[in-house]
Amino acid sequence: MESNEKVPYVLTGKSHTAVAVNAAAKAGEWIKSRLGAYGQLATKSSEQDLVTEIDKGAEQMIRRLILTHFPDHAILGEEGVEPGEDASLHALRDAADEEYLWIIDPIDGTTNFVHGFPFYSVSIALAKDGEVVLGVIYDPSRDEMFVAEKNKGAYVHGARMAVSREEQLSQGLIAVGFPADPVAKLPINLRGIEALAPKVRSLRAGGSAALHLANVAAGRLSGYCEVGLSVWDVAAGALLVAESGGQVTDTKGEAYNLEVRNIVATNGGSLHTELLTVLKEANATGF
Ligand code: IPD
Ligand code: CA
Ligand code: CA
Repeated sequence: MESNEKVPYVLTGKSHTAVAVNAAAKAGEWIKSRLGAYGQLATKSSEQDLVTEIDKGAEQMIRRLILTHFPDHAILGEEGVEPGEDASLHALRDAADEEYLWIIDPIDGTTNFVHGFPFYSVSIALAKDGEVVLGVIYDPSRDEMFVAEKNKGAYVHGARMAVSREEQLSQGLIAVGFPADPVAKLPINLRGIEALAPKVRSLRAGGSAALHLANVAAGRLSGYCEVGLSVWDVAAGALLVAESGGQVTDTKGEAYNLEVRNIVATNGGSLHTELLTVLKEANATGF
């Protein structure tokens, strides 16, 4: 090695999980301190697709913290990708060969953040060779840190999580979503919502896909489905649900992978099958 060649200084000794938890906590605290008090509001792919300088700043903060510890890892963050379905799919495919890929949604639930409605989250996942091995979701409003490691279970502040036990859809509390694509995706979701409403105990639409998934993992929701999501909305939450004993598939019932955009995540078993059937019969799978 040439004597004047710069050797990058790499911090060692911190686990992937510790770095993700620290980044989610720091970003979440800052986001909460600015709840409803952003400076600039802009729209992206549609009038309903919002972004503020806090989304961008939080992503920047998380990227820096990750790269401080793992400078050779790749990062896919929502605010670093052009808006729209095609761009997010291309960005994911471009990163397909990365050994370590961090997947970030700095604020999942930006509309809620803008309005001061306390249901939003920071979502950070790590994929190794294309498979999610770590999922961290932080809910600043309730100060809840949800963490899952592949094959090691899922925890909220150290307490092991387990999905709920309802076996029938009629006993289920199911979350749904209204995606920010009012033309292609909203009508599909509305068909699903109309078909599900009379068949479940009740429906909820909190406005944060990641937080819906964390709450399925925690056993507080029986399931969640939405058509038209992006990888950063679901990567961390999918692992949380799976590691809590639940089931995560696409709306056709195929196992979750990073390219899944139409998601069904439940406590598993017959409730999952029932939910898939309702969506199929309502022509609400998005396929
Ligand atoms: C949105 C939220 C929302 C869901 C949308 C997502 P964003 O993410 O997760 O609940 O219905 O489909 O796009 O834009 O707040 O990061
Ligand atoms: Ca999101
Ligand atoms: Ca976001």
